[in-house]
Amino acid sequence: MKLAQRKALVTGAGSGIGRAIALCFAREGAAVAVNDIRREGVEGVAEEIRSLGRDALAFCADVSDSVEVRAMFEELAAQWHRLDILVNNAGIVVLDSSRQQRLIEAHMQRLQGLATPEPLAVSQNVTDMEWRRTLAVHLDGTFYCTREALKLMEAQRYGKIINMASVAGLAGLAGAAAYSAAKAGIIGLTKAIAREAIHCGVYVNAIAPGFIDTPLLAEMDPALKHLIALQAPIGRFGTTDEVAAVALYLASDDSSYTVGQVLSPNGGFYM
Ligand SMILES: NC(=O)c1ccc[n+]([C@@H]2O[C@H](COP(=O)([O-])OP(=O)(O)OC[C@H]3O[C@@H](n4cnc5c(N)ncnc54)[C@H](O)[C@@H]3O)[C@@H](O)[C@H]2O)c1
Repeated sequence: MKLAQRKALVTGAGSGIGRAIALCFAREGAAVAVNDIRREGVEGVAEEIRSLGRDALAFCADVSDSVEVRAMFEELAAQWHRLDILVNNAGIVVLDSSRQQRLIEAHMQRLQGLATPEPLAVSQNVTDMEWRRTLAVHLDGTFYCTREALKLMEAQRYGKIINMASVAGLAGLAGAAAYSAAKAGIIGLTKAIAREAIHCGVYVNAIAPGFIDTPLLAEMDPALKHLIALQAPIGRFGTTDEVAAVALYLASDDSSYTVGQVLSPNGGFYM
């Protein structure tokens, strides 16, 4: 087992990629604290972890709220006195149906070799609320949790911080300006903190998955899903376990020379 005796916290672990990472870490011997803004989600996953014979804590907290994040870490420290691994995974995506329609049309025209008849600028309809909430959950949330984790990890001179970015942060995705900006911000944050924290034994890296079949994309138009899958040379969406395997590498001591990197399981969507 690669994570025996380790204590991990995974945010946004009530579903999708976060749940798969939490269960993978538990199977590898870790005690896992799971966070989510949705109570049913975290409590169910904490039960699944306990049924694997591992210790679990469940925290219902909004990672974009620094007061809730501080309280979560205080409670975690009171219970466990240490934290070896933090996965900053909580995330949202705003899928606007008219924007999706514009993207499908543009994709179809490109496939047929036609020029787009009108500019595909869909971002002029992004609201302040969408912009701020997207940056708050992804970027503020990653920073707030990292800030608290570093206090514990610096004192113990050991830690692994894994930030969930996206190919959107590497390549930019049309129709997802706020999401792409937030994920690019997470990549910059990862590299800056990686340079500081390695001096106290704390490794900081990011994962930038391609398109993964999770509830996050449940409202995506099936036609758009199909078109996106075709853009990756592998020709399909990824699975949550394929991302969890990368997280396990970064969480384990196998990654002892991997600092400030962005690993991207994406089926060749972005090279
Ligand atoms: N699915 C993909 O194609 C894909 C690709 C690249 C990156 N990602 C990233 O992976 C991460 C997980 O996404 P997923 O696909 O598993 O989605 P998901 O919707 O299945 O899981 C995200 C979880 O985060 C929780 N969450 C949302 N806001 C929160 C908040 N403020 N505080 C705490 N928890 C919150 C949700 O309740 C949900 O359980 C996200 O950061 C996402 O951006 C997903």
